[in-house]
Amino acid sequence: MTTTPQLSSSSQQAMLKAEALLQKMTLSEKLGQLNQVSGQYGGISADLRQAIQSGNVSSVINEVDTPTINELQRIAVEESRLGIPLLIGRDVIHGFTTVFPIPLGQAATWCEQTIEAGARIAAIEAASRGVNWTFAPMIDITRDPRWGRIAESLGEDPYLCSRLGGAMIKGFQTESLNERTAIAACAKHFAGYGYCESGRDYSFANISENELRNTVLPPFKMAADLGVATFMPSFSDLNGVPASGNHWLMQQVLRDEWQYQGFVVSDWGSIRDLTVHGLSEDDKHAALLAFNAGIDMEMVSDCYAKHLPELLSENKVDESKIEQMVRRILQLKYALGLFENAQTNSEEFVALANHEHLLAAKDAATKSCVLLKNADNILPLDSSQLASIAVIGPLADDKYEQLGTWIFDGDEQHSVTCLSAIKALAGADTKITFEKGLDTTRSQSEEHFSKVINAAQDSDIAIMVMGEESILSGEAHSRTNIDLPGAQVQLIEQVVATGTPVILVIMAGRPLTIANVNDKVSALLYAWHPGSMGGEAVADLLFGRAVPSGKLPVTFPRVVGQVPIYYSQKSSGRPATNETFVHQNNIPVRATQTSLGMTANHLDVHFSPLYPFGFGLSYATFDYSEIRLSEHRLTMESSITASVTISNRSEVDSQEIVQLYIRDLVASTTRPIKELKGFKRLPIKAYSSIDVDFEINAELLGFYGPNNTFITEPGRFNVWIAPHSDTTNYQVFELVSEALNN
Ligand code: GLC
Repeated sequence: MTTTPQLSSSSQQAMLKAEALLQKMTLSEKLGQLNQVSGQYGGISADLRQAIQSGNVSSVINEVDTPTINELQRIAVEESRLGIPLLIGRDVIHGFTTVFPIPLGQAATWCEQTIEAGARIAAIEAASRGVNWTFAPMIDITRDPRWGRIAESLGEDPYLCSRLGGAMIKGFQTESLNERTAIAACAKHFAGYGYCESGRDYSFANISENELRNTVLPPFKMAADLGVATFMPSFSDLNGVPASGNHWLMQQVLRDEWQYQGFVVSDWGSIRDLTVHGLSEDDKHAALLAFNAGIDMEMVSDCYAKHLPELLSENKVDESKIEQMVRRILQLKYALGLFENAQTNSEEFVALANHEHLLAAKDAATKSCVLLKNADNILPLDSSQLASIAVIGPLADDKYEQLGTWIFDGDEQHSVTCLSAIKALAGADTKITFEKGLDTTRSQSEEHFSKVINAAQDSDIAIMVMGEESILSGEAHSRTNIDLPGAQVQLIEQVVATGTPVILVIMAGRPLTIANVNDKVSALLYAWHPGSMGGEAVADLLFGRAVPSGKLPVTFPRVVGQVPIYYSQKSSGRPATNETFVHQNNIPVRATQTSLGMTANHLDVHFSPLYPFGFGLSYATFDYSEIRLSEHRLTMESSITASVTISNRSEVDSQEIVQLYIRDLVASTTRPIKELKGFKRLPIKAYSSIDVDFEINAELLGFYGPNNTFITEPGRFNVWIAPHSDTTNYQVFELVSEALNN
């Protein structure tokens, strides 16, 4: 049986101590450990005090005032019978006070070190306030940018999400949870949340077990194997059974198959929601279903607190299972060292948002920006050549909006905006004119447009910082139309019409459908919501003090009607091709039914995305050689090496994210036309070349087949090593079974 490795460093002691304590606990005290209550934002009511004294509270969420946390811990340790300390939970999603790019932006770095460093800093800052548990990483796979929570995700691909999500867990938990700055992580939202129909939050997804096992579950399996301390179910209804009551997910997969040893905390009121979903009659029935599914701790609602005693007396639940839940929770509290010391002295920690932390946030933001267009290499800008710059847009100088969603503890005073950073970098003689143009990104009013047009006409270049306010993405903030909101397109068009070259910087919590401006602007830098230091990162990139290196972790659709659109699609029996695609504008009147290419595409939009997964430009130019294979035949036990030589043909030192894709051409369930199976982020100096190798073995080629068991099948495979997913030249190799080999 695999123990949770992350707890293994102190897991033996933790398990023994938890066992010993469990033997002393009354039933009421055991039930109390299954209960998480909401903090009171700096206060402690008499009821809360009394509940803690009675041992009825195991965890408090959303309290970040350190003196209050210390008092809550003191009450638990000194005034309850057994002195069991509290887990203090908080959504530390992409930073605490120092705000890093939103997770979708961090995913665009394709850099485990950067992401781990960001999570490490977030943990240090959160721990310095007494928080010891974060509800992150969010590792939901999604291909639907209408869904507001894509902002919190690590994108569309399970391989990329697994590697980057693992880095985040390591950053939060470090090598040992009883390290003073370690905080417990939480793999969420288990599972299938990102597939909700039409991207509407909290709703329902019908996902085949085969798709679940090949695409949705792998990042969670990674997290479980890595030793993430906790799991959280999704709010959504998976195949008719909401996750908080889904025995197949929580017991068969998580416990029986994966042997996961940590504990599962519900989402906010998600147990009570089972009645709203229509899975349970009432809170008592919801408590029974969630308990039987295996939800160990209830977040904020009180179905367990109110009804487990009754269910126990009715022999509908078993005390041994309650003890198993309590054991898991106590083990984490021991592993975190809370029984040794539950008090926090903030003086013992580095300062929040200190210079080092802000530098790390800037590094992450710089690596997360993706250069999508750079016509005539207009970027990088040479400030000495620019007598005047117009900085335009509602997000050019907004310290708050650039932080993005889920920044409960972010502090905008530390933000550096694009405008202030551009001013700092522009030449002393360069005239900078700033015009917001729109009060907010949603404004429809064109009343300020004339001032913007004048500023653009009087300037050598216009840098427009547009996009979405942070509130337009995140939880419960889905959109059916993912164009630039408000009158932003009109503003961009009118600035372009002045003839002044436009550099468009977009800040958003999702891929926006920007085809309607993409062709009009000279350059396009996608900054996501870049966090505290986003402005400096953007300015450094625009003026060449840094070189763009980010690549898309998610596909950019041309129009929302293409959604879901992602690189690792199945072939279909009649894949669309450029030869067969006929745009509806080119269809002859009264064309007969079968006269057009009968293939898997729409009539009104080309089947390709605007920008593919893995895409991103640099100021350097990289040439990829043909792929070289050490062998063209692979056995179940051997491995082959796929290599390319990448040449940087420019005068610019840069980093390149090299991607390995593989296609299983024939299998007992259809396989995607391409799957990411490796990537490396590599520095390549100006005018130099490097050889890049990837090892391929049978394990890498495995998948869940028709019986939903993990299998590897002999056959032929295409392999690409490329700068992004929309690439053609490949090599072929064959996997042979031993029998065939003899
Ligand atoms: C929210 C979110 C979840 C978060 C939790 C606590 O509703 O779904 O991701 O961790 O509640 O804030």
